[in-house]
Amino acid sequence: CGIVGVVGQSPASAILLDALRRLEYRGYDSAGIATLENGSLTRRRAVGKLANLRNLLVSEPLSGRIGIGHTRWATHGRPDENNAHPHMVSGVAVVHNGIIENHRELRDELKAAGADFTTETDSEVVAHLVSRERKNGCEPIVAVRKVLPRLSGTFALAFLFEGHENLLIGARKGSPLAVGYGRGEMFLGSDAIALAPLTDIVAYLEDGDLAVVTRDQIEFLDVNGAPLRRASSKIGRSAVIVHKGEHRHFMAKEIHEQPKVVEQTLTQYIDCRKATIRLPKNVDLDFRKIDRVSITACGTAFYAGMIARYWFERYAGLPVELDIASEFRYRDVPFGAGNLAIFVSQSGETADTLASLEFAASHGQRVLSVVNVQTSTMARASQIVLPTLAGPEIGVASTKAFTCQLATLACIAIAAGRDRGVLHAEDERSLVRALGDIPRHMMRALELEPKIRQLARKISPARDALFIGRGTNYPLALEGALKLKEITYIHAEGYAAGELKHGPIALVDKDLPVIVIAPHDATFEKTMSNMQEVIARGGRIILLTDQRGAGLAADGAWSVLELPDMPQIVTPLVFAVPLQLLAYHTAVVRGTDVDQPRNLAKSVTVE
Ligand code: G6P
Repeated sequence: CGIVGVVGQSPASAILLDALRRLEYRGYDSAGIATLENGSLTRRRAVGKLANLRNLLVSEPLSGRIGIGHTRWATHGRPDENNAHPHMVSGVAVVHNGIIENHRELRDELKAAGADFTTETDSEVVAHLVSRERKNGCEPIVAVRKVLPRLSGTFALAFLFEGHENLLIGARKGSPLAVGYGRGEMFLGSDAIALAPLTDIVAYLEDGDLAVVTRDQIEFLDVNGAPLRRASSKIGRSAVIVHKGEHRHFMAKEIHEQPKVVEQTLTQYIDCRKATIRLPKNVDLDFRKIDRVSITACGTAFYAGMIARYWFERYAGLPVELDIASEFRYRDVPFGAGNLAIFVSQSGETADTLASLEFAASHGQRVLSVVNVQTSTMARASQIVLPTLAGPEIGVASTKAFTCQLATLACIAIAAGRDRGVLHAEDERSLVRALGDIPRHMMRALELEPKIRQLARKISPARDALFIGRGTNYPLALEGALKLKEITYIHAEGYAAGELKHGPIALVDKDLPVIVIAPHDATFEKTMSNMQEVIARGGRIILLTDQRGAGLAADGAWSVLELPDMPQIVTPLVFAVPLQLLAYHTAVVRGTDVDQPRNLAKSVTVE
């Protein structure tokens, strides 16, 4: 799931290992490095955490000033040492992110011609194909150029060639890849975070590009070998060099950053003095001409979109079509004119969301993306980009990106309502003032941490957990359950509270924690009835509510988490905080790997 490369003056393996460490956050299950030692390819690979590769490199060091490295998130073939990258076939080493979809045909063809495969991966075919071209007498660049059109699917690739001490080749289609410029040394990496301490000048490969990287220059070519111009840009190192600060995990740090980053995000879209929404000038959108909105995303970003659906309907009278990206792109969606297609993504690289975006754009939809990484592929492929300013999010389980996505989507919905005449000036002002209070409410939510830490001890032995809510608290229940299962491995489900009696209530017993998300809103009484149904069957209730709600309905609950009263529009953002803390502290009690939970990746660039 991460690629790095260096051609420079100092020992490559230390640089590569350090860059891989910065890519750890993306999720992986094995890692490897290859270098050229006196012109010959050598490699070290290890399954599991990078510490295993580091230990191996201590006992069996690699010399050389050029090399490539990789962290692998298994798709084809088990996560064992043998399947770890780099793959090496007669003088060619390659690392790959993405999926080569036609790998079976290619493997059969290569085998018929006598190739000997040593791994179960789709990626190994690339090494065989390039090495075959080399044997046919092609120079490295020509060999790579000949092979790329044969690959279907997605890839970011980096190549190293025996006997070529001053040459790395990078290529991309669908999966991100960047190059970094140094003095007498050059770099390749999956993102700017990997490259940050090495250089602050980076350029991004576009789909179909090849980058020819030597110590003194980087050339971009198209697949026919014609030179291309790709602009480099300076990245603020402080924006990409991330530390845990005083926190034990990135996730804890990111939860605590929310009042600040949500404020930063809101400041972009709000005129504080007038208490109105002010979308950036270049956002050319006439909401009066929009009849329908579609929102598409994956994972946590999908739940942010699901909450926004309630807002677009309530505040702007706009029908919303909501879908998970991996479904949207394969449905026969009847696209109409006058539709706005919104895509929500922290990374801006999630393969399914990106493909859905391209699909919608190719059907004439206005494409707006809400992304956290402004240099991402999605941002570059969208007509309108409304960035979230969460800063780099390192914990695999998304927290601050989620609340910043919500803040941005709320602003879009209010702007739409105002422009469509659904909201009057006073409505807009009171909603905007409510948004402005979010950071303050979030601070109060963070004060619940000591109580949540104790509660986490009580729920940590559970095998299953249920989260229920109505209205916007329903998607929040889904998100709360997702957070818990991602990092604690407790099986958790989110349910619309009214749906409980149609199935999940069968699970209720004294060992099942049921987290009820119920601020005192229009659906409060109904949710309380559902809570009573659980209590009557011996279930353990953790009630997350506000002051008014706690005053009315705390009886019978195992534990009550009480927040201040607040306007309805802000509850999803504020109530998210205790849910995140609950998942976090339960994971800490259970001793799981909070920031890099098993089997998960931060940025999923495969379908
Ligand atoms: C992965 C991450 C999730 C994230 C989802 C969508 O599954 O582990 O935390 O919500 O991808 O990612 P995106 O970058 O598109 O928001």
